Amino acid sequence: MKTYLRLLSFAQPFPGFLVPYILLVVPAVVFGAVNFTLVIPLLNVLFNTFGDAAINEPPVFHLSIAYVKDLFDYWFLTIVRTEGKQQALLFVCVVIGISVFLANLFRYLAQRVLTRLRVWIVYRLRKSVFEKITSMHLGFFYKRQKGDLMSILSNDTQEIENSVVSTLQVFFREPLVIIVYFIILFMMSVKLTLFTLFFFPVSGLIIGAISKRLKKTADKSQQVLGTILSQAEEAIGGIRIIKGFVVKWFINSKFEKQNSSYRQISKSFINRRELASPVSEFLGVFVVIILIVYGGSLVLTNHSELTASEFITYIVLYSQILPPAKNISNSITTLQRGLAAADRLFQLLDTPTAVQDSTDAAEVTSFNHAIEYCNVDFAYNDKLVLKKINLRIEKGKMIALVGQSGSGKSTLADLLPRFYDLTSGEIRIDGTDIRKIKKSSLRRLMGIVTQEAILFNDTIYNNIVFGLEGVSEDDVHRAARIANAHDFIIQTEAGYQTVVGDRGMRLSGGQRQRISIARAVLRNPPILILDEATSALDTESERLVQEAILNLMKNRTSLVIAHRLSTIQYADEIIVLQQGEIIERGNHPNLIAANGAYRKLHDIQGFS
Ligand SMILES: Nc1ncnc2c1ncn2[C@@H]1O[C@H](COP(=O)(O)OP(=O)(O)O)[C@@H](O)[C@H]1O
Ligand SMILES: [Mg+2]
Repeated sequence: MKTYLRLLSFAQPFPGFLVPYILLVVPAVVFGAVNFTLVIPLLNVLFNTFGDAAINEPPVFHLSIAYVKDLFDYWFLTIVRTEGKQQALLFVCVVIGISVFLANLFRYLAQRVLTRLRVWIVYRLRKSVFEKITSMHLGFFYKRQKGDLMSILSNDTQEIENSVVSTLQVFFREPLVIIVYFIILFMMSVKLTLFTLFFFPVSGLIIGAISKRLKKTADKSQQVLGTILSQAEEAIGGIRIIKGFVVKWFINSKFEKQNSSYRQISKSFINRRELASPVSEFLGVFVVIILIVYGGSLVLTNHSELTASEFITYIVLYSQILPPAKNISNSITTLQRGLAAADRLFQLLDTPTAVQDSTDAAEVTSFNHAIEYCNVDFAYNDKLVLKKINLRIEKGKMIALVGQSGSGKSTLADLLPRFYDLTSGEIRIDGTDIRKIKKSSLRRLMGIVTQEAILFNDTIYNNIVFGLEGVSEDDVHRAARIANAHDFIIQTEAGYQTVVGDRGMRLSGGQRQRISIARAVLRNPPILILDEATSALDTESERLVQEAILNLMKNRTSLVIAHRLSTIQYADEIIVLQQGEIIERGNHPNLIAANGAYRKLHDIQGFS
C-alpha cells in the first residue's frame, strides 16, 4: 500500500487528474447503467405488460433517480397511449441509442485523462531513476551490475506502467460502477440484492489467497531478468574476446542457466496469476445461477416484488457487475508484479549518494597555490589501500606517481576530484578542505585523462565539446590541433561531424585518446590528472599522444601516473608507491642515485 501511494505521488499534481476524471467517469457509468434499465420498458412493450403504471400527471420535480424514472415512465406511457406501441418502441430505442453514445463518449474522455496520468507517471519515474543513476558516487557502480540498473530503467518501469498504472483505471472506475449498479439493484429489490451481497466477501477471500505469493515470485523473476541483461551486456561488450578464446559455449551455457531459470519462475508466476480470472468468473456466474433459481422461483410463485421483465433486467444488471468485479480481482494479482518492480525502483532511488556536498560547501573558481594531501588514509572496504599519504603539489608543478600495479596510484588520484571520500586525513586545495568545496566546482578545476578514452556515440565535434557552453568552432579546432588530433579528424569521412560509433569503436585507441585530450584542452582546467594515459597505445600513437599530453600540460599543475618511466623523467617530484605507502620520493637523478625501488623499476624497463 505504501509503495502504491508513493507511486501515486509521482502523479503530482494529482487533483489535476482526479477531478476531471471523476467529472467524466461518473456520467459514463451512469449512462451505462441507464442503458440497461431501459430494457424494462423495452420488454414491457414486447411482452405487453405495463405493470401497475398508471401515471397520468407528470411527476413533481425532486433530485433523485426515482424522479428520473417516473418522468421517463410518464413520457413513455403517454407515447404508448397517444401514438401506439410501435412509436413507443422507437422512442425507447432512440433513448437507448443516445444513452449508449453518451456513455461511451464520456468513457473515452475519462480514459484520455487516465492515459495522460499514466504516461506522466512513467515519464517522471524514468526521469528520477536516470537522474539518480547519474548522480551516484563511483563506488556504487562497482556494487551494482549494469544490467540491473538497465533492467530497472527499462523493465521495471515498463512493469509498473503495465500493472500499477493500468490498475489505476480499474481501481478508480470499477468500484464506482459496482456501487452505481448496486444502488439500482437495491432500488429494484432489497431482498435479492442482500442475498447476492453475501457472496462478494467469499470471492474476495479466494482471490486474496491466490495472489498471496505472487509478489515474491515477481521479485525473483525480475532479478533474474536483470542478471540476464547484465550477461548479455557483458557478452556484447566482450564479443571479441569471446570469439578469440573460442568460449562461446561457456558464455552460452552461463546464459542458458539464467534464461531457463527465468522461464521456470515466469511460468509459475503466470499460471498462478491467470488462475484468478477463471476462478472469479466461475464464482460470479455461480452466484447468477443461484440468483435465477431463487429469484426465478419467487417470480413464478408470485412472491416476488419484481415483475418478470424487471427480474430479467435485474439479472442483466447483476451480470454487469461481474466484469468490473473480475477486473478488480485480476488487477489485484497483476498489481503484485508491478509493486515488486516499484519496490526495486524505490530502493534505488533511496540509496544515499556517498559523496555529497556539505551544506556549507563553497564554490571555487580558481587554483592559486597548492594541493596538499595530509595524512590521507583510504579503504574501499576494510582493507587500507592508501596509508598516511603526505603530498604537496605546488601550482605549476608536475608530480608523478609510479609503483607496481595495485599499489594505489589510481586511487590516490581519484580522491582529488572526490570520486571517493577519504577514510581519514585531509586533502586541501589552496588551504580549503575539498569536502567543503562544491563537487561540481571542484571538478571543474580538473581535466582527467585516463587509460581508456571514453567517447560517446556522437560526432567527434560533440565529443570534444561535451556539453561545454559558449565554445566556437575555432576553439574546437584549436583544441584538436593542440591534441594532435586535427589532422586525422579532417581525414575521416565527415571530418568533425563523423560519428564515432559505440564508445568510439570506429576509431583507433590513439585517436580516441587524442580526442579525449582535446576535450580536456578545450576545458582549459588549471589542474590535470593523467592516469596511464598512454599505456594502452602502440609506440607510434604513443608518440603522438605523448606530444599532445606535453602540449596539454604546459602551464598547468599536473598529477601524472605513468606506466613507462620515460614519460616522467622531467617531473618536479616522483613519488614511488608500494602497497599504499610512499616508499621513495625525489626527482629522477636523485632517485637513480639513491639506488632504491625506483632504480629497480627503471632498470627493468631498460632505460639508461
Ligand atoms: N572499486 C574498488 N573496490 C575495491 N577495491 C578496489 C577498487 N579499486 C581498486 N581496488 C583495490 O585497491 C588497490 C589499489 O588499486 P589501484 O589504485 O587501482 O592501483 P594502481 O592504479 O596503482 O594499479 C588494489 O589492491 C585494488 O585491488
Ligand atoms: Mg591504476
